[in-house]
Amino acid sequence: MCVHYSLDEGGLMILVTGGAGFIGANFVLDWLQRRNETVINVDKLTYAGNLCTLKSLTGNPLHCFVQVDISDRSALDLLFSRYAPRAVIHFAAESHVDRSIHSPEEFVQTNVVGTFTLLEAAREYLDRLDDDARAAFRFLHISTDEVFGSLLPGDPHFCEMTPYAPNSPYSATKAASDHLVRAYHYTYGLPVITMHCSNNYGPYHFPEKLIPLTILKALNSESIPIYGDGQNVRDWLYVRDHCSAIRTVLSHGTPGQTYNVGGQNEKKNIEVVQAVCDLLDLLHPKAHSSYRDLIVSVSDRLGHDYRYAIDMRKIKIELGWKPAETFESGLRKTVQWYLDNQHWVNEVQSGEYRKWIEFKYTNVRKSQGR
Ligand code: NAD
Ligand code: TYD
Repeated sequence: MCVHYSLDEGGLMILVTGGAGFIGANFVLDWLQRRNETVINVDKLTYAGNLCTLKSLTGNPLHCFVQVDISDRSALDLLFSRYAPRAVIHFAAESHVDRSIHSPEEFVQTNVVGTFTLLEAAREYLDRLDDDARAAFRFLHISTDEVFGSLLPGDPHFCEMTPYAPNSPYSATKAASDHLVRAYHYTYGLPVITMHCSNNYGPYHFPEKLIPLTILKALNSESIPIYGDGQNVRDWLYVRDHCSAIRTVLSHGTPGQTYNVGGQNEKKNIEVVQAVCDLLDLLHPKAHSSYRDLIVSVSDRLGHDYRYAIDMRKIKIELGWKPAETFESGLRKTVQWYLDNQHWVNEVQSGEYRKWIEFKYTNVRKSQGR
């Protein structure tokens, strides 16, 4: 276990796993801008975890970064007994569908075994708490809409009662972790809440996912790869809206319940990529051409889910949460952020990143008429 900053024990604290990744880091930064409550940030620092995202917190006594694998039970036990958090917010996961298709083992290890290990450590910790602390404790599990499988055009949106039908190794391991989380509530009374969110986008997004990949490919004048015909549909949620939904659920959600969170922005992939290109044409124009000219069609993803769509009436009606950003406002902020933060991009584009991009995007096929 490697502790980067230390702080006094005592006082209210939350323990965040995966807080050096995209959503977890946005959550930690957002939390510490708004609250005076310590965050114990537990992250293994895989290729997706970047301490440079957390640079602004250096020296902040309310942030304690600990490099730990969530499958390491003794390290987790030590953290629970040392810091006595009032809540766990569990983001840590292997999260990229394409990587899960090429090497699923790590997904089983972290998403299933890691979540199991964290649940066991939390269960034992809870047994030692007094009744008040036990009643106040929460275990928030950050899941995905992908556990519900794939929709056809016209199918009703995913609601909290939609049966599970995961299609990729990634979504299958997330589904397995959801089932474990649910079972720990039913069997042991662990006060868990699971959130199913749609595709997040925003600052600090690792550039292997569609939106940051498109921005960086465009800025480097490289081909922008669209899988297949670009007609697959995702719902897009601005990451800081997701953070506000998590804070709402942490404060007001009911243990044992699940909540779906979306951005009310269903878009075809081609529409998303074109929107990014159009924003770049506006904010960072090229001399004689549009960024759209860089869009190419490449081989489709194996088992590519056609459509995800979220019915989020439950969180809206029961907890009064709704997203603040439209797709247009969130995307503009995102593109502007990447234009303004080239140093972050350079830092995260390590050898590991370049290896993946070379492996994945060789032999792109140029398509006509985009
Ligand atoms: P990410 O890949 O950017 O970050 C994951 C973080 O977890 C990284 O910092 C990594 O170092 C850490 N990690 C990985 N394995 C670990 C381990 N064994 N022990 C400790 N830390 C480990 O992921 P993200 O996009 O920030 O996603 C966060 C969570 O939200 C995940 O659970 C993911 O399934 C879920 N989710 C993400 C999206 C999205 O659009 N990004 C959508 C729905 C759900
Ligand atoms: P991604 O960002 O990987 O998220 P997810 O697979 O979790 O939805 O992909 C979003 C969509 O974009 C998905 O339908 C796959 C597609 N896609 C491309 O067309 N080209 C790409 O280079 C990538 C990474 C994704």
